[in-house]
Amino acid sequence: MSKIFVDACLRKETPYTPVWMMRQAGRYLPEYMKVRAEAGNFLNLCHNPEKAAEVTIQPLDIVGVDAAILFSDILVIPNEMGMHLEFIKGEGPIFKDPIKNEADIDALLGGEEAADKLTYVYETIKLLKQQLPEDKALIGFTGAPWTLATYMIEGQGTKTYNLCKKMMYSNPELLHKILRKVTEVVKFYMIKQIEAGADVVQIFDSWAAAIEPGKYDEFSWKYMVEIADYIKAKYPNIPIIMFPKGVSAFINMGGVYGNFDVFGVDWGTPMAMAKAKLGEKYVLQGNMEPCRLYSKEETTKCVEVIQETMQGEGHIFNLGHGILPDVPVENAIHFVSECKRVSKK
Ligand code: CP3
Repeated sequence: MSKIFVDACLRKETPYTPVWMMRQAGRYLPEYMKVRAEAGNFLNLCHNPEKAAEVTIQPLDIVGVDAAILFSDILVIPNEMGMHLEFIKGEGPIFKDPIKNEADIDALLGGEEAADKLTYVYETIKLLKQQLPEDKALIGFTGAPWTLATYMIEGQGTKTYNLCKKMMYSNPELLHKILRKVTEVVKFYMIKQIEAGADVVQIFDSWAAAIEPGKYDEFSWKYMVEIADYIKAKYPNIPIIMFPKGVSAFINMGGVYGNFDVFGVDWGTPMAMAKAKLGEKYVLQGNMEPCRLYSKEETTKCVEVIQETMQGEGHIFNLGHGILPDVPVENAIHFVSECKRVSKK
């Protein structure tokens, strides 16, 4: 049986435009909160394949999306490279000992050795392959090297990125050394996710817009394209989704965009602009502003406008970034059913 989501990634004809939501497995679902409480905390949940598989599947049953995204976090990668990850209540992810110099980078585990430590992720994928309905796709993912590096250098989320940017402008070789090391781990990590059973992979560059346009290619996009090329050389039929948040308008003006299938459009970019610029070459994913989910009427209006623009051609419905924890579940269900309603052929 074919998977409608995979078909849409490859621009094949589908009965309607498939839909999923970034961060769809999470705190807005009471069922998620229950399993997280049983696991003790978020990281225990990531480390427990049975429970991680359970929360991965929840939004399929509850909200009706067409694809499941592996339940994990982008920050398990630096954690397994040897940086100690903690989630502190109210503060989000913390690395207490961030990277300051070359010796700190050299001390980290790299390449396949680091990727091999993420066995619980591959175990979760294998369980999901047995549990998912045949027509639903499983999305594996990684953070882009730049987005991962922001946490590794700042030690936490940041509004200003001053430590990263100080490094970018005063010691770019050091930043490239971090990005190179992370890239090599991510290449193996992606291949191992695919070999465990991921049908599609997405690269999240959530903090792309922190980089000025003239430097984006050098410090982020180039590494993302290298990862995509590496995956495509080994698994040409596995669709790749690139999500560089906030930079769709100017990305890679040189014209060499890269070897991937789907471009994730963030909510700040008009879909018509993304379509004009990228729609011929890539399937577009997105891009409702996630806060529209607070109102069913506003959700319907937005879904209709996106459908009007995309006409069900080379499109996957999604939000333009992750769903927030206080969105009513019924509004998420409404979004998904509206996407299917307006695009039904
Ligand atoms: O449903 C899914 O999307 C799958 C699981 C997933 C999580 N994180 C679970 C999670 C995915 C794909 C991510 C990616 C991720 N993690 C990104 C990139 C995507 C994006 O939203 O831009 C980033 C930047 C992170 C880093 C991260 N993880 C932060 C900043 C936080 C704290 C903020 C927050 O939302 O709580 C996390 C924690 C996290 N990752 C939670 C979940 C469900 C919340 C943990 C909890 O309290 O249960």
